[in-house]
Amino acid sequence: MLKIIAIIGARPQFIKHAPIDLYATSMSDIQLFTIHTGQHYDKNMSDVFFNQLKMSKPDIILEIGSHNHGKQTGLMMIEIERITETECPDAILVYGDTNSTLAGALVAAKLHIPLIHIEAGLRSFNKDMPEEINRILTDQVSSLLFVPNKNAIEQLKKEGIIAPAYETGDIMFDLFKRALEVIKDQSSEEDYYLATIHRPYNTDKIERLKEILHEMNHLKYKVKFPAHPRTMNLLKNQHVDINEYQNIMFLAPQGYFEMMGLLKNCRGLITDSGGMQKEAYWMKKKCVTLRSETEWVETLENNWNTLVFDNLSTLKTALEIEPGEYNPTVYGDGNAAGPIMETIKDFLLNKKTA
Ligand code: UD1
Repeated sequence: MLKIIAIIGARPQFIKHAPIDLYATSMSDIQLFTIHTGQHYDKNMSDVFFNQLKMSKPDIILEIGSHNHGKQTGLMMIEIERITETECPDAILVYGDTNSTLAGALVAAKLHIPLIHIEAGLRSFNKDMPEEINRILTDQVSSLLFVPNKNAIEQLKKEGIIAPAYETGDIMFDLFKRALEVIKDQSSEEDYYLATIHRPYNTDKIERLKEILHEMNHLKYKVKFPAHPRTMNLLKNQHVDINEYQNIMFLAPQGYFEMMGLLKNCRGLITDSGGMQKEAYWMKKKCVTLRSETEWVETLENNWNTLVFDNLSTLKTALEIEPGEYNPTVYGDGNAAGPIMETIKDFLLNKKTA
């Protein structure tokens, strides 16, 4: 039996882990031991995903919670190292680019345990983003990498990463296909835009956040805005009265299927999330990304996604740009979990017998 410690902790990782967990439960020779770092801990940022995606409950929940980056990552490392030494896994598996990813990656590297990185090779080329640092470092110490597209393979080569890398398509597409089934009968009579804004560069300076809200408040359709707790905390701390924004409906963070339902029926998405840019693409919805760059460059082709950053007053016109031709296979075919898990199994068995 091969034992793999999977590290999850933030909302996007629950989504990426769900299809892997599902496939792993059908394998007789792999045991996943899941550590939830507790980076996201609110009910609607964490529990809701385990319940609705029917994932195995984590074996351990660390309850690290919110801290500055150094402390958060450090506390996670202390605990992950302790558990890894007890559990003696054959590998550690991490997803994406959060502080939970980096903590797991560094522990694996220090303990000389093979590290597997799912969603490797993505770059925004903006080192001010904590995620960019997390991705680069994680890829550098990985033993086995899985990438969602060709660009990512090329990028790993450019960075001199010689560990085996496999292009399997995007793991989030697996779950998205499940969502399409679940929400197939959902429709809406109202016209609205959907928004998610949580990146520090859009929220931490209150003037910037207010400018974004001001633009959303003057759009043609109302804006449904499931707000991340960090965004709500910032507004509260800065005494911003959200009732001033009559065109914006502030909602609690949504479950995965609820969010995909909102996306399906919206007139367009306004976001700074990574995952939502792809989900909008798969849903064939116009997306406007409030960032100066994106690691999901394929979504920019044929205007499916438009970047708006310095000049926020162009948000309105950007939302009205009609997308062109759609490429359904740019992030694979939605069957990434099987090939990923079978490749991991072969890799680890080969290592054992080498
Ligand atoms: C993290 C990831 C980001 C990802 C995002 C998705 C890093 C560096 N960033 O950002 O890549 O896109 O998750 O959601 O790992 N908070 C709560 N309750 C929670 C979680 C957070 O109130 O359950 C609040 C806290 O005030 C906290 C703040 O949100 O300080 C930020 O949370 P944190 O996990 O540090 O980063 P995210 O912004 O969520």
